[in-house]
Parts: sequence; C-alpha cells; structure tokens
Amino acid sequence: MSSENFSAEAQRIRQRTMDTLLAAFSELSEGLLIVDRQARIVWMNEKYHRRLGIADPASIVGLPVEAVIPNSLMRSVVTSGKPIMLDIMEFGTESFVVMRLPVRDASGEVIGGVGVMIFDDPRQLVPLVSRFQSLRLELADTRRKLDEARRAKYTFSSFVGVSPTCIAVKDKARRAARAGSPVLILGETGTGKELLAHAIHAASPRAAGPFVAVNIAAIPETLLESEFFGVAPGAYTGAERKGRSGKFELAQGGTLFLDEIGDMSPALQAKLLRALQEKEIEPVGSNRLIAIDVRIIAATSRQLQKEVDEGRFRADLFYRLNVMTLDVPPLRERLEDLPLISEALADSLARQLGEHPRGISAAALEYLARHPWPGNVRELSNVLERALLMSDADRLERADFEQILPGLAQFPSTEPIQPGARTLDQLQQDTERRAIAAAIAAARGNKAQAARSLGISRASLYEKIAALGIAPPDSV
Ligand SMILES: Nc1ncnc2c1ncn2[C@@H]1O[C@H](COP(=O)(O)OP(=O)(O)OP(=O)(O)O)[C@@H](O)[C@H]1O
Ligand SMILES: [Mg+2]
Repeated sequence: MSSENFSAEAQRIRQRTMDTLLAAFSELSEGLLIVDRQARIVWMNEKYHRRLGIADPASIVGLPVEAVIPNSLMRSVVTSGKPIMLDIMEFGTESFVVMRLPVRDASGEVIGGVGVMIFDDPRQLVPLVSRFQSLRLELADTRRKLDEARRAKYTFSSFVGVSPTCIAVKDKARRAARAGSPVLILGETGTGKELLAHAIHAASPRAAGPFVAVNIAAIPETLLESEFFGVAPGAYTGAERKGRSGKFELAQGGTLFLDEIGDMSPALQAKLLRALQEKEIEPVGSNRLIAIDVRIIAATSRQLQKEVDEGRFRADLFYRLNVMTLDVPPLRERLEDLPLISEALADSLARQLGEHPRGISAAALEYLARHPWPGNVRELSNVLERALLMSDADRLERADFEQILPGLAQFPSTEPIQPGARTLDQLQQDTERRAIAAAIAAARGNKAQAARSLGISRASLYEKIAALGIAPPDSV
C-alpha cells in the first residue's frame, strides 16, 4: 500500500470511528446534547427530549443550555476547554451520571461541547455511586444526630425525687432557668449534675437554641483552646486547613455546658475569663473577634471553693461562674428518694433492655438503703441494670441485690467490729443512721410508718433525723 493510499484509508477510519462513536453514544446513552461555544443548544437526541418532556425539539435549539437544564455545566466546559469526565447531575428529584467533553476544530479551537448522560439511574454505577450515596446518607445522618445531641435531652421531670433537698434544688434550678445568669452546679459524681444542666436549658428562654456540652476532663489540654474558640482557616495544615468553629460559636443563642470545670488549667481559665468578660472570642490563628451570646452552665464534682482557697482555681473566674449555685445532694442524704428513683430507673432500664417492667420489693429497697452509694444515682442505675439482667422474676428481690452488693447482708447485728476503730457512740450513731434510712426507704418515704416499724414515736424519729443529719426535720 502506498503512503498516499494509507493516509486516505486512515482518514476514512478516523471519520468512521467518530461517526460510530457518536451514533453509539447516542444509542447506548440515555441522552446526548451538543452546544456551541456560547453554550447554546445545537442539538439534543430523541431520548433526552423524552426524558426532559420536551414536545417540540426545534423549540429549544439556540436557547442557553441552562434554560433547559438548570444545573448543566456545559458552559464551564466550553469556556475552560476542559472535559468533566464523570459527574453526578441533579435534575429535579433525580440524579444522572454525566460526561461532558469540549469539541475542537482542526486548529484546536473550542467550537462547542458534547454532554452525554451515561446512566439515568446512578445506582447502576456500583460501587462508585453507591459509595457516593452512602456517604451522602451518612452525612445527613450525622447532621441529624448532631442536631439531636445539641438539643436538651432532659427536663425537670427527669430529675426524680420528692425529698425536701431535692425539691429545693429543683425550685432553685427553675429560677436559674428563667434568670439567664451563669449557673454553677456542685455535687458528687453521679448525682445528676448533667441532667440538671439539660433541664435548665430546656426550661430557659434559650430552649430553642443549641445545648452544647464540653467535658473539660475528657479533652487533652493541648486541644482545649481550639475546641473552645475554634480555628481560623489556614491556621493549621492538614485536616484543620479549612478552619473549624469552636464550642462557643456552636452554642450561639443557646447554652454552653462546661462539665468538670474544676479540671481546667490556669492558662485556659484566663482565656475563658476573658471571653466571659468581653463576650467575645478569638479563634486560634485569627485576628478577628467574634461576639458571643451564650449562657454558661458549669459543673464539677470537686470542692471548687477549696480549689480557689488553695490557688488552683482563679477566684475571679469562680465568682463569675458562681452567680447561682446548685448543690446537688448525694443519694445517701436523701434516702427517702431511693424507692422513687429506683422505680423510675428500673422502668427506663427495662425499656432500654427490651424487657418487661419489673417491680422492686420493700425488703430489697430496705437492703439498698444500707449502701452508702459513693457513685450516687449512676451507681444505683448500674446495680439495677445488673439485677434486671440476672433475674427473670416479675419483682426484684433482696436476694438479687445481696449478690451484687454482698457486704451489706450482715448489717447490723454481725457487722465485724474492729476494736478501737470507732467509739461506741460513733458505732451507735452509725447503726441508728443506717437503720433509720433503711426504714424510711422501706416505707417509701412515709415517716410515720417508718417510726412504727422502728418502734419509736414520730417525734423522736424527727429528732433523730435532725441530730444524725439524715434529712431536714421538716421532711414529709
Ligand atoms: N434525680 C434523678 N432521677 C433520675 N435519674 C437520675 C437522677 N439523678 C441522676 N440520674 C441519672 O444518673 C446518671 C448520672 O447522672 P449525671 O450524668 O447527670 O451525673 P453527674 O452529676 O453529671 O455525674 P459526674 O459528676 O460523674 O459527671 C444519669 O443516667 C442520670 O440520668
Ligand atoms: Mg457529669
């Protein structure tokens, strides 16, 4: 074959390939579209017309492509001369997988573009599109969960208890909710400080705003500043490159709950104080100030006054946070709440475990009242959960709890006595305190009944309650 013949043949093959490709794309794809260099529609195949519901194909020729396909990127292809090989285009409620190529003349000049709709159902492009879809679902799910997490989970009715100290704390918390000033919640671990913080937010005028919690003890010291105040774009490289909002910004218009505030380092205490005084924050690596409108609730299980006295917590920050103080009493000081809290917890635990609701016998409650509950309501909840998992009976009995909290079974008569450890007076008081607390719990808070079961008068029960510091003498 001469070289002249070859080039004529090559030219023919090229031309035929072009025609075949165009025909194949037109036939195999779900739609084909050609535009000129101004992104005006030159031609559209039959399938595309049908897909778009266009009755008269001639009516759209010459129109800007966006007039027919609002999300089209054909204009950017003809302007930049760069193809978009694979993309997902939204059209109404549907998604299409599309490919867009520029068309050039013999000198390489862009004269138009061609868009191919490869599949009308992107789900066919497994796994690429399925990954895309699942990421999209995940994102929507995460956003929803974040929104949920930022709403308060509890109201005052979740804080169970009818003891005078409990009612007093709830009354004060309700007043605090209305006031809008900072609140400091103090109490041992597991007494319900976080629950109260949620409830205060939910009862406050900021209830529609976010509730954002930061556990200071759980976040490494080096990350706390950016966690609080955010990071300006470009301040860091890597994942943080784009910048990030801090908890103060996320809590705008709502409540910021600073849990375990007693664990805050002196350096951050100074920065927090400044933010609270100025009502402004400065994201890490920025020179821009952001005005903040956030209500602060702080909590700690430490003796914060003592931390101040011993120089570990700034006095000025303490006074700023300590506008209203809620002292949440430990469970052992309000044993009359034990039956009610136990029942409420057992009900909700049974629901969570997918089990039928179970009662708790009076003897079981009397037994539980002997325990000092160093972990308070959280510990009670754990004990009840274990009992529910171990027993199938309709009612939790004393024997179930004897297995979980064995040390209390010998109380009071055979409790081992260590000579010289305590005076007779102390032993006597301790025994009386536990016996009275147990009787009150068994009588579900009814003090007249508790007095009868102890064989003493109501008046002397009240005297003993006051003297032993079990609960205020005006308890019902
Ligand atoms: N009065 C109550 N009524 C019902 N449930 C309660 C009560 N107090 C606490 N709880 C429950 O006990 C658990 C512990 O409460 P919470 O987390 O609020 O305690 P906390 O004081 O923040 O403890 P910590 O200091 O250890 O963080 C939670 O599951 C909470 O719902
Ligand atoms: Mg807590």
